[in-house]
Amino acid sequence: MTHRIAVVGGDGIGPEVISVALDVIAAAGAGISTTEFELGGHRYLRDGTVLDDETLEELRTFDAILLGAVGTPEVPPGVIERGLLLKARFELDLYVNLRPFTLPDGHSFTVIRENTEGTYAGEGGFLRKGTPHEIATQGSVNTRMGAERAIRYGFELARARERRHLTLVHKTNVLTFSGDLWERTFNEVAEEYSDVETAYNHVDAACIHFVEDPHRYEVIVTDNLFGDILTDLGGAVAGGIGLAASANLNPDRTGPSLFEPVHGSAPDIAGKGLANPTAAVLSAVLMLEFLGEAECAERVRAACESVIADDAVPDVGTDEIAKAILSGLEQG
Ligand code: NAD
Ligand code: IPM
Ligand code: MN
Repeated sequence: MTHRIAVVGGDGIGPEVISVALDVIAAAGAGISTTEFELGGHRYLRDGTVLDDETLEELRTFDAILLGAVGTPEVPPGVIERGLLLKARFELDLYVNLRPFTLPDGHSFTVIRENTEGTYAGEGGFLRKGTPHEIATQGSVNTRMGAERAIRYGFELARARERRHLTLVHKTNVLTFSGDLWERTFNEVAEEYSDVETAYNHVDAACIHFVEDPHRYEVIVTDNLFGDILTDLGGAVAGGIGLAASANLNPDRTGPSLFEPVHGSAPDIAGKGLANPTAAVLSAVLMLEFLGEAECAERVRAACESVIADDAVPDVGTDEIAKAILSGLEQG
């Protein structure tokens, strides 16, 4: 079976790492066909296009979307990030952002980040902009439905894991409206999952535990912005941001899901051959798993893991790492 994949390399290191991901899964024999979409800051600078409705409709027809990274310093912040990536997450209803981490000692944990609401929803605006009395508000939108579906996904995932352990991360001691909704929803859903052990951490304390005691975590469910910040930290403690993969899932499969590294376009290293492509390759692994290609995904994952564990492979150098993953595949 051939899966139709829409590919958005994007900006900066995005195309560099996506080209490696495509080479690796092709070498692994993945049955995919790819269609490239030129989207991102460079396209915007050329003709003003961010993500037009026609392209969005076309993207809906694919089995999955593989994206490198978008955003570039020549374009004001938010134009591409909101107009392309967040538009895709919202319009395709990719309500689960799944971000797994494996520590150097082998311990794995997964963050489920709510992906369609919170401060990301875009509520707010300016009053008296540019005057000394300027006001800017940026609201946080939290629906029962939105929190509940992310939380339920977290419980289901925890139920399938060894320890059956789920931690809610929020800031209930200050965010007494949204935190209350999240906590009540979490506790109510927990009653249906008596086999899953639960815990709660405030997000600031979770930052301490990520660094000092990440073993306490198996599955975490959290709000959109907390999840964004925590998962960069997750990358940093789990071998570096160049290894961190993510899946933006439409679990109901009413359209394509989108797979991308946690990292951004890294303008500081773009074009220098320094980007670690592993995060992009592992994002393609998450894509293959979601598409039901478990065996192919597992071989690519094993190749990545052998390279990560191999001290002889340098942790910078896109080509060097790509070659090591490809040779790991051949040997595997
Ligand atoms: P970033 O993740 O691009 O970079 C942060 C740091 O991590 C930089 O020092 C970078 O060199 C390093 N880094 C990132 N990926 C790496 C890799 N694969 N290998 C080695 N080092 C790597 O974050 P930023 O600098 O805050 O953002 C740059 C741009 O990317 C912004 O426009 C931002 O909005 C955008 N962004 C896009 C996405 C996405 O498309 N999914 C995600 C995050 C940031
Ligand atoms: C991520 C990124 C995005 C986010 C940006 C680029 C919109 O940082 O995927 O983590 O904040 O979700
Ligand atoms: Mn982020």
